[in-house]
Amino acid sequence: GSYDTGGYAHFLLKEIHEQPGAVERTLSGRLNERFATAHLGGLNLDARELREIRRVKILGCGSAYYAGEMGAQLIEELARIPAHSEPASEFRYRNPVIEADTLYVAVSQSGETYDTLAAVQEVKRKGGRVLGVVNTVGSAIARECDGGLYLHAGPEISVASTKAFTSTVVAFALLALHFGRIHDLSPADGRRIVAGLKALPDQIRKVLEQQQEIEALAAEYAHSRGMMFIGRVRGYPVAREGAQKLKEISYVHAEAYPASELKHGPLALISPELPTVALVPDDELLDKNLTALGEIKAREGRVLAVAHRPVEAKLADHCLVVPKSEPELDPLLLNIPLQLLAYHAAVALGRDVDKPRNLAKSVTVE
Ligand code: G6P
Repeated sequence: GSYDTGGYAHFLLKEIHEQPGAVERTLSGRLNERFATAHLGGLNLDARELREIRRVKILGCGSAYYAGEMGAQLIEELARIPAHSEPASEFRYRNPVIEADTLYVAVSQSGETYDTLAAVQEVKRKGGRVLGVVNTVGSAIARECDGGLYLHAGPEISVASTKAFTSTVVAFALLALHFGRIHDLSPADGRRIVAGLKALPDQIRKVLEQQQEIEALAAEYAHSRGMMFIGRVRGYPVAREGAQKLKEISYVHAEAYPASELKHGPLALISPELPTVALVPDDELLDKNLTALGEIKAREGRVLAVAHRPVEAKLADHCLVVPKSEPELDPLLLNIPLQLLAYHAAVALGRDVDKPRNLAKSVTVE
């Protein structure tokens, strides 16, 4: 059942392995092949209303905020609507300007995070429109929103979010596809994304098959003084979520930086004691990412690359190869090995994986 570990050592590991099914449920009944779009019955926004939206502001806390960063990129890329993710915990305290042509999207696994709920209430009090991307049906945030979509990822018990994170990104891909096909996304591109989404569950299974290899790498890197996570553009939110996951459950210090910013500061930290996890998707920024790896290796930094094809040994000490999706959907798959890396690092260090110290699954207080 959902409330026992079902033969897995921890809920976290079980939930990592539940991701193919969670993604299938998030997609279930929502792909419209004929019009190469997404069918989203709960938005409560018709095409005319959607066309009037000029900006999207995404609000969430912790991993929900990082999933929102991936969501913002999906919306910008597929729908060409400017989109931005902000921690709900900051937004609510800065007397935000609420605009009639901005769509606000609240992200929450539990639907009970107080900071996110307060942000939704602030938007609504000022007359803004809020959609919810929420896992828990009937939760406080879901009830407060004007519409939205449920993840249907199933109960998530472990404090660190994995399957809800992945399902949230899938939900944003559906939203972005739907918005895109109302704006200027071509039918051909719509079909490309629909096919990409349908292929995700099996591709996630492929990543999960690499668990033993990732476990061995985690044992090697877990005892580092700290770890750097780098990526650029689509890879950057992956780096941020990867660093967050490692911090949360292994207590190893981890920092995420855009690879483009290395030379503007963090390169000073690079040494054999501070290894780097580098997101190296096979996209138009591949050469630039490989150059950054060269700069790290020249300073004797150790590199674990997460890439679509093997990175040569002089640029990376280790490389995890992840199946290639459509470029817009790649971040979701690149994140999966980082979940396993954090999990196995935490286990190697003897941490309380499902209940890390000082953290709660849902923070329902101010
Ligand atoms: C807490 C948890 C995080 C989670 C965040 C948002 O801080 O420790 O793992 O990402 O809340 O939770 P939510 O339920 O709103 O997605």
